[in-house]
Amino acid sequence: MATVFVTRALPGDALVRLRAAHDVTVWDGALPPAPAALREALADAEGLLCLLTDRIDAGLLDAAPRLRAIANYAVGTDNIDLAETVARGIPVGVTPDVLTEATADLAFALLLAAARRLPEAAAAAREGAWRTWEPAGWLGTDVDGAALGIVGFGRIGRAVARRAQGFRMVVRSTADSTLEELLELSDFVSLHCPLTAGTRHLIDAAALARMRPNAILVNTARGGVVDQDALIAALAGGAIAGAAIDVTDPEPPPPGDPIFQTPNLIVVPHIGSATRSARARMTELAVENLLAGLDGRPMPHPAGG
Ligand code: DGY
Repeated sequence: MATVFVTRALPGDALVRLRAAHDVTVWDGALPPAPAALREALADAEGLLCLLTDRIDAGLLDAAPRLRAIANYAVGTDNIDLAETVARGIPVGVTPDVLTEATADLAFALLLAAARRLPEAAAAAREGAWRTWEPAGWLGTDVDGAALGIVGFGRIGRAVARRAQGFRMVVRSTADSTLEELLELSDFVSLHCPLTAGTRHLIDAAALARMRPNAILVNTARGGVVDQDALIAALAGGAIAGAAIDVTDPEPPPPGDPIFQTPNLIVVPHIGSATRSARARMTELAVENLLAGLDGRPMPHPAGG
């Protein structure tokens, strides 16, 4: 029986299986453990089930000398220094596939919401500004037949492309076009690449300047893929028409962050995988990974696998 620390209570019932096999402590805070609390909790831990809100770096790993398996409750791994875990021989597992469709749905929901100005229109109705049927009110952008550029054509990017076929969109992706072509030719650009040193600020001021003035940017990947200051400037200056983002840099944005005052920008709080079934399945995969890692078996869903 190993000592395991889980950094938040998780949906679904898969933690029961983990508890049956190991000595499990679940952090019961409404917010993630602060770095000092995480260090303290890992002083004796052999297994860690962590979230994208937990930074797993060399300093933390130094403070966790017995740690021998990490299960990340996410498909992304940008919160973990994988070079350090590899160097220390600590396997890391992730939760692919089970959140693909939920995240693609959210990307499409954001695309449609921005195209048809749903937050503004819903707020207007709620606030009593719906006085009559307006011939020129709340005019949006056609999605049917529009050009969609998908940056990152992995599982989620491909799932977005499948949805786009139903809207008869002309789909390009970074699998078949250069980023420059894709930015210049798209009415909608949806980001689905992981955050790495190579993709940080991939969408910077120069990239935004290449986009069409009617274009809408959707980001359900990671906030750091976009230079947020450049995005705010592009929206404020009308260089692009709108954006809808599920992810920010940092997360959450601090109170008073300009993204909450920026016109034509929809922000939601990193809910791409937030369906009941996706989150419960993520718990199952994380538990399977951790059980395997602690048993010395290959993880079924290893990072980078
Ligand atoms: C992930 O898995 O990386 C998402 O951002 C959260 O589900």
